[in-house]
Amino acid sequence: MTASIQPLRAEYAKAPSIDRLLALVGQDLEAVNQIIIERMQSPVAMIPELAGHLIASGGKRLRPMLLLASAKLLGYEGTRHHKLAASVEFIHTATLLHDDVVDGSNLRRGRKTANIIWGNQPSVLVGDFLFGRSFELMVEDGSLRVLRILSQVAAIMAQGEVDQLTTARDVETTEERYLDVITAKTAVLFAASCQVAAAIMEKDEATESALEAYGRYLGIAFQLVDDALDYASDSDVMGKAVGDDFREGKVTLPTILAYQRGSEEEREFWRRTIGRLKQEPEDLTRAIATMNRHGAIRDTLARARQYGDMAKEALAALPDGEAKDCLIETVDFAIARAF
Ligand code: IPE
Ligand code: IPE
Ligand code: MG
Ligand code: MG
Repeated sequence: MTASIQPLRAEYAKAPSIDRLLALVGQDLEAVNQIIIERMQSPVAMIPELAGHLIASGGKRLRPMLLLASAKLLGYEGTRHHKLAASVEFIHTATLLHDDVVDGSNLRRGRKTANIIWGNQPSVLVGDFLFGRSFELMVEDGSLRVLRILSQVAAIMAQGEVDQLTTARDVETTEERYLDVITAKTAVLFAASCQVAAAIMEKDEATESALEAYGRYLGIAFQLVDDALDYASDSDVMGKAVGDDFREGKVTLPTILAYQRGSEEEREFWRRTIGRLKQEPEDLTRAIATMNRHGAIRDTLARARQYGDMAKEALAALPDGEAKDCLIETVDFAIARAF
C-alpha cells in the first residue's frame, strides 16, 4: 500500500468565519429569531413593515450569538437567554434605524435604508418602538441585574452617538477621544451581550468581568475594522455605501492617522473636506489614496488586531471547549471580515 498525502483540512484553508459559532448556537438562534418576529408586531402596520424590512434583510446577528455562546461557555441549560438575546438584537436594530437617520445613510444590509424608503420620522419612531420592546423582554425576564446592565448600555450608546457629533468635522480629534466614542457607541453592547450570560447564571464577579472585557475589546476591534472598511471595502460586499464617513465628515482612526501624518498641503485637504465639508466628486478617491500613502488603513487594522488579542486574552480563565474556540474565532472573523 502506498502512503497517501492527506488533503489539507478545510478548516486550515478557510478564512475565519462565524460558521462554527452559528453551528454552536443555531438552534437557540432560531428561537431568538422567532421571538424577534413575534415582538416586532403591532396593529400599526407601518411598524412591522419598516422593522421587518431591516430585520428580514439579515444582518450577522453577532450580538445575540455572543450572548448565546457565552451562556454555552458557562454551561447554561435553560431558555431565559432567548428573550435576552432578542432584547439585545432589538437594541442593536433600534440604534441602526437611528444611526442611519443621523448619518444620512442610504444603504444598509444591501438594501435601501428605512429613512430613504419611509423617511426620517418613521425610522426614529420605529427605533423607539423597538427600544420599548427590548425593555419589555428584559422586564419579562425579571432579573434586576440584567436590567441594570442593559439599561446602562442603552444610555451609554446614545451618549456615544451624541459625543460623536461633537467630534464630527474636527480633524484634530485624538485617537483617545475616538476610542471613547467607539467604546460607547459600539463596544459596550458587545460587552453587555456577553456579560448578561454570566449575570443570568449569577456567576462570580471575575467571570462576569472576563466576559465583559472580551466583549468590549472585541467591540472596539469590530468598530475599528468597520471604520477601515468604510474606506477600503466594496458596497456590494459590505452592504453599506463606501465613503459614508467621509461624506458626512465623521472623524475616525483612518482620518486621524492620515491627518497626523500628512504634509501641510494634505492637512489643508482634510480641513477643507472633513472640517468644512467642501467636497468635490473626486475627493473620496484622493482621500483613500492619501490614507494608503500614510498606512492609515493598515494601521487602523493593526490597532484592531491588538484589541482582538486583548479580547482573546480576556477569555484565558474561562473554561476551554467548543464555545471558547468559537468566541476566539469570532475575534478573527471580526478582524478579517469584509462586511
Ligand atoms: C453595524 O453592526 C454597526 C456597527 C457597530 C459598525 P453590524 O455590522 O453588526 O451590523 P449587522 O447587524 O450585521 O447588519
Ligand atoms: C456604528 O457606527 C454606530 C452604531 C452603534 C449603530 P457607524 O455609523 O460606523 O455604523 P454603520 O457603519 O453605519 O453601520
Ligand atoms: Mg452609520
Ligand atoms: Mg461605519
